[in-house]
Amino acid sequence: MVKFVTTNPGKIHEAREYLDSPVEQLDFDYPERQAEDLATVAAHGARAAYRHAGEPVIVDDSGLTIDALDGFPGPYSSYVEEKLGIERVWQLAKEESNRSASFRAVVAYCDGGSFEATPEPVDTDRRGDDLGTSERDSATTDQQVAEDEQLPVRLFEGVAPGKIVAPRGDGGFGFDPIFEFDGQTYAEMSTEEKNAISHRGRALAKFADWYAQR
Ligand code: IMP
Repeated sequence: MVKFVTTNPGKIHEAREYLDSPVEQLDFDYPERQAEDLATVAAHGARAAYRHAGEPVIVDDSGLTIDALDGFPGPYSSYVEEKLGIERVWQLAKEESNRSASFRAVVAYCDGGSFEATPEPVDTDRRGDDLGTSERDSATTDQQVAEDEQLPVRLFEGVAPGKIVAPRGDGGFGFDPIFEFDGQTYAEMSTEEKNAISHRGRALAKFADWYAQR
């Protein structure tokens, strides 16, 4: 059994609908590293989550990229949702003639054991970068940190194209009401419909294939 470590029940709801094997939520708010790429954030999160849980875990780090705004909010999506809110993100995008956007998810798996980890950029030379000194648990020894840096992480990425529209729909969470694919916003879709085309659905599909063959 894999624990999905997240404080977001929306992600769990989608993973349960999607994966055949049982998915249990571990409601732990692991320290999220700020980095330019989601893969680094997800890899760091998976190691921190595994250290907390002591059993196989997945975490998911996602971000919305608005093309005309040079990729904003990208890895800062959660901060922007909290501080600006989706209506103001729509107001920003509304001014642009090109409203194309994409959602990206990176699912990261860590079980403390060794397996063929995802190659560069996050799982070989840069492993050491994934644990910032300021984020270390004060009880964590240098030796523990060195061991953690070696923890293999496997990454699964999913990307979904779409466009930014005025908010519509009551379902889902986060930016769902302003992200449209094929005439429907994510918030207007059932979980099953969203999973079939969403960034998270695509990343979870890759994870499920790999996990089933282990
Ligand atoms: P995180 O992966 O939990 O850090 O999420 C980053 C931000 O993207 C948060 O504001 C989430 O609410 C938002 N987000 C992540 N996945 C989705 C999604 O599937 N739909 C809409 N918003 C999402």
